[in-house]
Amino acid sequence: MSSTLNFVLGTRPEIIKLSPVIRECQRRDVPFSLIHTGQHYSDELDSVFFEQLELPTPEYNLCVGSSTHGEQTGKMIAEIEAVLEEERPEVVLVQGDTNSVLAGTIAATKMDGIEVGHVEAGLRSFDRNMPEEVNRRLADHAADYLFPPTKTSENQLIAEGLPEEWITVTGNTIVDAVTQNVEIAHERSDVLSELGLEERFGLLTAHRAENVDDCERFLSLLDAVSKTAKQQGLAVVYPIHPRAEKQISEFGIDVPEEIQLVEPQDFLDFLVLEDEAEIVFTDSGGVQEETCILQTPCVTLRDNTERPETVEVGANQIVGIEPSDVATGVREMLKIEPEWENPFGDGTAAQRILDKLGYDQK
Ligand code: UD1
Ligand code: UDP
Repeated sequence: MSSTLNFVLGTRPEIIKLSPVIRECQRRDVPFSLIHTGQHYSDELDSVFFEQLELPTPEYNLCVGSSTHGEQTGKMIAEIEAVLEEERPEVVLVQGDTNSVLAGTIAATKMDGIEVGHVEAGLRSFDRNMPEEVNRRLADHAADYLFPPTKTSENQLIAEGLPEEWITVTGNTIVDAVTQNVEIAHERSDVLSELGLEERFGLLTAHRAENVDDCERFLSLLDAVSKTAKQQGLAVVYPIHPRAEKQISEFGIDVPEEIQLVEPQDFLDFLVLEDEAEIVFTDSGGVQEETCILQTPCVTLRDNTERPETVEVGANQIVGIEPSDVATGVREMLKIEPEWENPFGDGTAAQRILDKLGYDQK
C-alpha cells in the first residue's frame, strides 16, 4: 500500500504534538500512514493518547521497546527502512528530538525519492551531553523541510548554514493541540477531585536522563521541590514517568511527603493540572511550552533550556536543582502577574506545515 505522507512517531510528546498535523491530513484528505516505532509502549505513555486524541491506529508498530541508544536507534532504522520500501511516500514527517526522530530521519533521508520534514526544528540547548541535543542537530542537518516554531529557532538554523528556502516558521503544533483540547479538558476531567487537589497545589514533572539517572541530582531535585513546597504551603503532585519511577526504586529513594506520586496522566487531565496549578516544576520540554501557553508560572529544573522564548516572555525561570535556587525562582515567579505573550504561534502550525508541503486545502 502506498501513502503520500508517512509519520514516524514513537513517544508521548510526538503523539501529542503530531496529533494536529494528523487531523489536518484527515481534513484535507491527504493519504497518510503512521509508523509507530514502539519506543513508548506502556498504555499510559502511548495508547491512551491515541484514544483520547481520536487518532487512527498506526498501520505499523515496530515494537522496538527500550534498550541502549545504539541498539534502540539501530533497530528502528532497519525496521523503518523496510516499511518505507513498501510505502514509498513522498515525505516522511518527524517531530522533536527523540531517538525515534533520529531513526526516522536517517532511514528516510538516504532513500531515493523520499523527503524528510522536521517539525520543531532549530531548538538548541547547546548542551551536547543531552541525547536530545544530538538527535535534534542531526535531524535538522539531514532534513529537506525545516519547520522551526519561532524566529529564534529559524535564526539558529540559518546560523548553522542551512538554506533559508528549506525553512518555514510555523509556530509550535503544541499550541494547536492545547487550543483544540483545553476547553474539552475542563469539561470532561475530574482530575482535581480525584487527586484531592481542591486547595492550591504545585505540579512536578521530572524524567530527563541527566536528572533522574543520577542519584545525587535526583535527590537534590526532590529535596528542592519539597522544601519550596513547604515554604509556599503547597501540596505537590508528581505524575511519574516510568523512567523516573524505575530510578526511584533502583536508588531506594524515599520521596518526601510533600510530593504526591501519581500515575502518568492522560492529556486532558494533565492539561487541567497544568492550567490550575499555582506553579509548575519541570524538566520537560513540552511542559515549559504548555505552561507558557496556559499562563501558568513555571520553573525549569535544569541548567539550560532549548525553549529560551519561555524565559524571555517571563513565563519560565531556569533554576537548576539546588534548593535555594528553586525556592528563589518560585518566589519570584509567584510575584509576577501571568500576562505574558505566547511566543509559539497562533495554533495554525499544522496548516502551515501541510501548506508548505503542497497538500492544499480541499
Ligand atoms: C524519551 C526521549 C526524551 C523524551 C521522553 C518523553 C530519547 C533519547 N529520549 O525519554 O527526549 O523527553 O521520551 O517522555 O529519545 N519505559 C517504560 N514504558 C515505556 C517507555 C519507557 O516503562 O513505554 C521505561 C523503560 O524502563 C525505559 C525508560 O523508561 O528504559 C526510558 O525510556 P526511553 O524511551 O529510552 O527514554 P525516555 O526517558 O522515555
Ligand atoms: N503529559 C501528559 N501526562 C503526563 C505528563 C505529561 O499528557 O503525566 C504530556 C504533556 O502535556 C506534554 C507532553 O506530555 O504535552 C510532554 O512530554 P514529556 O514531558 O514526556 O516529554 P518532553 O516534552 O520533555 O520531550
